[in-house]
Amino acid sequence: MKITKAIIPVAGKGTRFLPATKQLPKEMLPILNVPMIHHVVKEAVDSGIEEIIFVTSSGKESIENYFDRNFELEMFLEKAGKHDYLEMIKNIGQMVNIRTVRQKEQLGLGHAVLMGKTGISDGESFAVLLGDDLIVSEKPATKQLMEVSAARNNSSVIAVMEVPNEETSKYGIVAGEKLDEKTLKMTKMVEKPDPEDAPTNLATPGRYILNKEIFDILEEIPRGAGGEYQLTDAINVLATRKDVFSYTFDGERFDTGSVKGYLNATMEFALRDPELKSYAMDIMQEKLNRYKG
Ligand code: UTP
Repeated sequence: MKITKAIIPVAGKGTRFLPATKQLPKEMLPILNVPMIHHVVKEAVDSGIEEIIFVTSSGKESIENYFDRNFELEMFLEKAGKHDYLEMIKNIGQMVNIRTVRQKEQLGLGHAVLMGKTGISDGESFAVLLGDDLIVSEKPATKQLMEVSAARNNSSVIAVMEVPNEETSKYGIVAGEKLDEKTLKMTKMVEKPDPEDAPTNLATPGRYILNKEIFDILEEIPRGAGGEYQLTDAINVLATRKDVFSYTFDGERFDTGSVKGYLNATMEFALRDPELKSYAMDIMQEKLNRYKG
């Protein structure tokens, strides 16, 4: 079964990025000159996704507009003979079909995903990508999950990454039976366990393949941690009803919803850019000399 739709929740308040997010959606903050959400949508498209369902809230209109055509700008660039930019702008407007649904109250990630229900057909599985998590990898992380899902009877698959034992309390951590070096048959997910209580050191950044049954569960579960409807709670119930797997993806993840993760991603992307690499290294070296000690 081919997975062609992705739900990307972008309705959160982005409090960790205030004051910028007082007025700007966090997802539109650029890593160098490219908004972080562009990278997330590109990962989905490169994985074979044909339709994106953005779960948005008031003030997030610029995300939709970014992926729409902008004929006025196109005409301006055409007249100015700036054909490279024109091509770039047109391509963004034609990247993928976008649909938006509103989450009127920010009641948690589980609630946000539930808002995407109307866009998913019966029996269809779909991807979920968090709009403020970047993954840099050769094969898109979502594609890696899709392949595991296809090989495992179209089951739900949760992306995981190894974290240092002392950091388990920052993440959702999975438990389960090890099937191979990268795959677990999940029994449960534990929210932010202390290192001594953590069943593994496999943490869940924001990438999922989910069966449509998750919506029934999201409608049933009570509010969880922080008074929010947690996707983790719904996945735990799903794991008691159907096979759910976790997969340690190949790639590096950046939590660009936090200032430190954003800084890390910006430095990484500068060093990966052939035109910026030597400049970035020079200024980093100069700053190291100036500020060290
Ligand atoms: P986060 O907790 O990282 O996002 O949720 P946030 O709430 O925007 O950020 P902080 O913690 O206040 O800084 C992960 C993802 O889920 C979305 C967010 O937009 C983000 O992409 N989300 C979260 C929703 O769409 N709705 C919600 O009710 C909660």
